[in-house]
Amino acid sequence: MKKWKALVTRRPPDKGMAMLADECDLVLWAEDLPIPRQTLLEMAEGVDGIACLLTDPMDKEVMDAAGPGLKCISTMAVGYDNIDVAEATRRGVAVGHTPGVLTEATADLTWALILAVARGIVPGDAMTRAGKFRGWSPTLLVGGDFKDKTIGVIGMGRIGRAVARRAIGFGMKVIYHNRRRLAPEEESAIPAAYSGLEDLIKNSDYLTLHCPLNHESRHMIGEEQLALMKPAAYLINAARGPVVDEAALVRALREKRIAGAGFDVYELEPELTPGLVDLDNVVLLPHLGSASIETRDTMSQMAAQNLLAGMRGEVPPWCVNPGFKSRS
Ligand code: GLV
Repeated sequence: MKKWKALVTRRPPDKGMAMLADECDLVLWAEDLPIPRQTLLEMAEGVDGIACLLTDPMDKEVMDAAGPGLKCISTMAVGYDNIDVAEATRRGVAVGHTPGVLTEATADLTWALILAVARGIVPGDAMTRAGKFRGWSPTLLVGGDFKDKTIGVIGMGRIGRAVARRAIGFGMKVIYHNRRRLAPEEESAIPAAYSGLEDLIKNSDYLTLHCPLNHESRHMIGEEQLALMKPAAYLINAARGPVVDEAALVRALREKRIAGAGFDVYELEPELTPGLVDLDNVVLLPHLGSASIETRDTMSQMAAQNLLAGMRGEVPPWCVNPGFKSRS
């Protein structure tokens, strides 16, 4: 018997899995699907740590199910809106996440969405495969331009900035909105100009979301904000689904009040808001932001490092609880 017992809610890439298996007795949900809630509660009983995913709500009930021995919850993601951090902190349970490593992969994927939705990549591929390409046409699948257009970034953290840097390469003007305005040298390094939210929405040809999900950002883009967007503008969401009121988005897209949307995340993930799949001005991906081989390998190692440190009573290297102290 090893020193720690850890619940692993989904098999991570081998590198992280090996680190955990070396030091812990693992209670593993081995199916490649989100663990059912009741099973999660049963499997959590008596564990020292939980290695979870963004698909697993980690709330008071789960912490109660684990019991007083629970020392750490570690998610293999940068976003941790699925974890009740305040409750964990109250109980002295460390919470770890995996920031930084997935910044570039997520920015790349955001740009894949932007390019795909604006330039007809998905319908173009479908048409070509279906044998419907009949030769060059002056009007076939014509879409949006990038050079000299404005991209509005909401949430100028690591990922927002990486998306903005790529936009500069496309010859775009970058404006952003963030809870905290960047320092002048950070703005000029991109370069990006700060904007109030309403003006940012009005002035963007591409509006891209990179803020965390919290009570301030939930439905930040709803009916009212969609009405402010330019009719030729595109909305991109690679942050968290509930930042957008998707029912309002479906109406705006259906009525062609905006040009299109590229989504990697969904309000009711993995369910899709009715009407979304029937639209031809959207590109829909299955939450692939960080899905590159090296990124996911490193995420699994960081998540394992966090969990092991937390179970030892140390502060995890990428700890999200404010002011968390080690147990020793
Ligand atoms: C993915 O969405 C993440 O938060 O890492």
